[in-house]
Amino acid sequence: MSKPFVSVERLTQQFPDGAGGTLTVFENATFGIEKGEFVCILGHSGCGKSTIMNILAGLAEPTSGVVKMDGFEVSGPSLDRGVVFQNYSLLPWLSALKNVIFGVKARYPDWSKEKVEDHAKEYLAMVGLDGDAIHRKPAQLSGGMRQRVSIARAFANHPKLLLLDEPFGALDALTRGTIQDELVKIWGGTEQTVFMITHDIDEAIFLADRILLMTNGPHARVAESVEITLPRPRSRTTVVDHPNYYAIRNHLVHFLGERSKELAGQDTGAEDNKPETIRLGQTGPRPAPEPVLEPEPESSGPDLRAVNQ
Ligand SMILES: Nc1ncnc2c1ncn2[C@@H]1O[C@H](COP(=O)(O)OP(=O)(O)OP(=O)(O)O)[C@@H](O)[C@H]1O
Ligand SMILES: [Mg+2]
Repeated sequence: MSKPFVSVERLTQQFPDGAGGTLTVFENATFGIEKGEFVCILGHSGCGKSTIMNILAGLAEPTSGVVKMDGFEVSGPSLDRGVVFQNYSLLPWLSALKNVIFGVKARYPDWSKEKVEDHAKEYLAMVGLDGDAIHRKPAQLSGGMRQRVSIARAFANHPKLLLLDEPFGALDALTRGTIQDELVKIWGGTEQTVFMITHDIDEAIFLADRILLMTNGPHARVAESVEITLPRPRSRTTVVDHPNYYAIRNHLVHFLGERSKELAGQDTGAEDNKPETIRLGQTGPRPAPEPVLEPEPESSGPDLRAVNQ
């Protein structure tokens, strides 16, 4: 099989534990992301999600292991990878508009001043920011507004890989829904690939093609890759009625509630340490039901299959 667009191979991160020892946050984390895929990652606080994202962004180096994008090893930041940080770091001395312009100018050096500004404004408007607000500096904006500027800045640059670290955490439910929809629209209309960290299971199911599940740290790893077998376009109100929805949701809840702890510190056993692929529910038209000779209570549950990659 050919290599995926992004390939994370046996990534291990250790930090000094502050008491003279070593903390192994995650060990041999391995996964791939296909071009154009929307992948979410779920795991408990501290398992190393933000650290993995910083490594994917080229902003940090792992203790061991490699990340490759388009066949090349990631080393150092690049305009091909746009990041929305967990703490939405903006340049504090620039207005919201200038924060977005800054990136667009770097990405499209040939564009006229007007074109750059119009483009930046378009993306700010997309996340619901216009009027006076875009001329304010980050310190004069609310947390949710800062987060939206940060999202506009990343989206406006059309990076090949969009890295989002809990990008909607500071937003109210209504704004969150609107921006999720914008994200799906932007992603659906381009060749962009998205890797997103979230703590929100329903958000992950609504957005993702696949959800990676991490075990608890220390020595965390990516244990499962859950395919989201829900047709697109998805609507927030009807997606929950799909027969696969609750099978997927229950699986994720159980993983985070129990198995993330039970599996902690264990290897997959497979040589490459790749996550197990989980496909829940029906993916195509439902087959005719098999005649049941004896009542089997378990056969009424969702169809759960582990597929080895
Ligand atoms: N630069 C650093 N030096 C030492 N320890 C660090 C450093 N960065 C992260 N850590 C530790 O690594 C672990 C993973 O941190 P990380 O921020 O990646 O977790 P996370 O999965 O993103 O958590 P959350 O869901 O709370 O955001 C934590 O125990 C953290 O204290
Ligand atoms: Mg984090």
